[in-house]
Amino acid sequence: MIWGVFSDVHSNIEALEAVLDAFKRHDVEGFVCCGDLVGYGPSPNEVVERVAGLKPLHAVIGNHDLAVIGRMDLAWFNPYAQAAAIWTRWKLSKEASGFLEAMPTRLETPEFTIVHGSPRSPSEEYLLTPQQFVDNQAHYKISPCFVGHSHLTWCFSKDEANPFGAKTHILADRERVVCKPNIPWVINPGSVGQPRDHDQRASCGVYDDVKREFTLLRVPYDIPTVQARMKEAGLPDFLIMRLAYGQ
Ligand SMILES: [Fe+2]
Ligand SMILES: [Fe+2]
Repeated sequence: MIWGVFSDVHSNIEALEAVLDAFKRHDVEGFVCCGDLVGYGPSPNEVVERVAGLKPLHAVIGNHDLAVIGRMDLAWFNPYAQAAAIWTRWKLSKEASGFLEAMPTRLETPEFTIVHGSPRSPSEEYLLTPQQFVDNQAHYKISPCFVGHSHLTWCFSKDEANPFGAKTHILADRERVVCKPNIPWVINPGSVGQPRDHDQRASCGVYDDVKREFTLLRVPYDIPTVQARMKEAGLPDFLIMRLAYGQ
């Protein structure tokens, strides 16, 4: 089966629609979402409703989703994220809030594991280093493990030549990796709605669970429209500007 893997939409419906169009072109049959549906952007209800309608869907909750529904302390966030979370709380519909409430913090299917941050700390840890990857290996069984949270397209795998080592790199647009079975893998598809690797295009991936092949995709979308809607909503200028820089 071919899965569309995405994360960190952050209330950006324009970016999400562009990613879902790309998934259609790649014959995607099911969806994997690694959390942070809301926060930062101007369209929380539209994003939650769109994701809730995707079938079949495996989705986990992110730290921004938890903050918006009152299950994570806002003190954990920077002032811009706090302002957006408070705005989102005020804006979020009962139905959207109920969908977020029902999402688990981790999921295991026969094909993969899904968490937002890391297997050992799904709602908090940013998985960024080879040492963190090694330390997390005891906390999941099914590989690959898809993560989000850092908004960066990290790919980690065990270094077979060195039992304590890891191979790691940032995936580029159209790059393919075949996840060799029986060794641990962690893959981050990057962020749909707020990329932070100096590439402003939405980021996502396609995973073929028969070939065990993951392909990263970057997808352009209408950034000025999102920025205009953020301005109208009164969201912080810093969050509006950073979309244009992918930062
Ligand atoms: Fe995020
Ligand atoms: Fe996050």
